[in-house]
Amino acid sequence: MNAAIRSVVRTGIYFGYEIIGINNGYKGMIEGDFVKMDSASVSNIIQRGGTILKTARCKEFMSEDGRKQAFEQLQKEGIDALVAIGGNGTFTGADKMGKEHQIPIIGVPGTIDNDLFGTDNTIGYDTALNTVINAVDKIRDTASSHNRLFFIEVMGRDAGFIALNTGIACGAEDILIPEEETSVDELIEILDRGFRQNKNSGIIIVAEGDDSGGAIQIANKVNERYDHYETRVTILGHIQRGGSPTCADRVLASRMGYESVKALNNGYKGIMVGIVDDQVSYTPLSKAIKHHNIMNKDLMEIARVLSL
Ligand code: F6P
Repeated sequence: MNAAIRSVVRTGIYFGYEIIGINNGYKGMIEGDFVKMDSASVSNIIQRGGTILKTARCKEFMSEDGRKQAFEQLQKEGIDALVAIGGNGTFTGADKMGKEHQIPIIGVPGTIDNDLFGTDNTIGYDTALNTVINAVDKIRDTASSHNRLFFIEVMGRDAGFIALNTGIACGAEDILIPEEETSVDELIEILDRGFRQNKNSGIIIVAEGDDSGGAIQIANKVNERYDHYETRVTILGHIQRGGSPTCADRVLASRMGYESVKALNNGYKGIMVGIVDDQVSYTPLSKAIKHHNIMNKDLMEIARVLSL
């Protein structure tokens, strides 16, 4: 997100705008927590995870009254256009605000979940993928040395993009995602097939939003019926949301920040900028949040074939 903030600030200055940062997301907007930004205020941040402007979950912004208060603060400050960086929650609020009040808003997709329609990748996703594979590779050392089966939970409360891609990249025995119904019978069958073929350890990647209830629950269900492996559970959690961004994420954020200001400059509003097939694309905010990109069926098939 810092790379996107830097890009918005510098592109805005290039186009002759005055740039104000809003601290703590919608909470800061309601409270009028604004900060003037210049080129120097975004120096040396492209390599840093998180956001220098900070962020917050904000219940008040979910109400019409909260959004009215926020809009009044923007007017008081003389802010006449917004770039909102975030995921589903951010865009839901932005879409409502843009429809209720006269202010153009452009969305920049920033979420590790990659669960927005209208862009191939969201900012943070590639970094999260790389964090996960680094962690799982390390866990595999214990799995294979101790002949253990690991259930590793990754983020993705509604979407299995992180799980599917890291599962393939780490050679997982199986991948459990919210987009597909999880069957304990099938999972045991896969594990047993591996056992019969002399596999002595295994990795199962579980998306947190999987219908099994997550890694702990599925590990318990398997353990009740199948005891060929000693099992362990690891929940990777928030390490996936931090750390220095990958090159791909820095470039993506820089492009999207630049395109968001250009879109405003060209009179667009109520849209999310995205990159699809290396081309810039505009998607209405309401559409970006309602659907997410469909899972690539080929990847699911590849995951199954390669885990033999
Ligand atoms: O929305 C992105 C996400 O990473 C989800 O996959 C995860 O469930 C959630 O954030 C965690 O949010 P919090 O930090 O509020 O617990």
